[in-house]
Amino acid sequence: MSRKYLIAGNWKMNKTATEAADLVQEINSLAGSQTSVQVCICPSFTALSKSSELVEESEVFLGAQDMSPEPSGAFTGEVSAEMLRDLYVTFVILGHSERRQYFNETNEVINRKILAAIQNNLKPIFCIGETLDERESGSTLEVVRTQVREGLAGYPSSAIENLVLAYEPVWAIGTGKTATDEMAQEVHADIRKVLKEMFGDSAGDSVRILYGGSMKPENADGLLSQPDVDGGLIGGASLTSRAFCGIVDAAGRACA
Ligand code: 13P
Repeated sequence: MSRKYLIAGNWKMNKTATEAADLVQEINSLAGSQTSVQVCICPSFTALSKSSELVEESEVFLGAQDMSPEPSGAFTGEVSAEMLRDLYVTFVILGHSERRQYFNETNEVINRKILAAIQNNLKPIFCIGETLDERESGSTLEVVRTQVREGLAGYPSSAIENLVLAYEPVWAIGTGKTATDEMAQEVHADIRKVLKEMFGDSAGDSVRILYGGSMKPENADGLLSQPDVDGGLIGGASLTSRAFCGIVDAAGRACA
């Protein structure tokens, strides 16, 4: 089963629309015409419209960082799936640990968002991962399995090709501490096992599982060469074109 590598940049709450335009143009010129690796950038909502125009002619895909589970209506401050589709957004990050931690998102809310996303033909990048306490108490696999099962409850097998998962150990996000290649592979393989239980062997084999947490050009080759690591969800290193495209290059080497 060959899965195409996906390198996605989560810009978090960084870059105005004007600053984003510069970064998109740099990424376009460094990685916007290659097709061996799928590349996606996820700017903030305010930068989506401008970024969308700039990636129109390139191979770079656009993603959002969150989305409402509701289709429309009186939900002040929220952004719907339809609004994202209208801007030619392809991917949407859902269940990021920062949303779980600071905005009280539960597996149940995340599940509703995932189902709303696929109903609108958006591809969820569904994030899961354990905290430091959970890792140290030996409950990593149990925590991640529960997040996967509850987050994907009711997910239709017919939409399996739209699903992307991202394993992001919370203790590795923005800390400079990366999971070792072996630690990442262990959890990724376990996630794939759960996906196979839920959707069958061939569907489980087809889903891309990204690694996220202090990934940078210096550690990307090792992580991306693991059999169940199919790409990266990049935070800090996605904010400069040189670092981000350095990781795209590493994915190119891994699939060569
Ligand atoms: P860092 O790459 O800054 O650790 O962030 C990872 C992340 O949270 C991507 O979603």
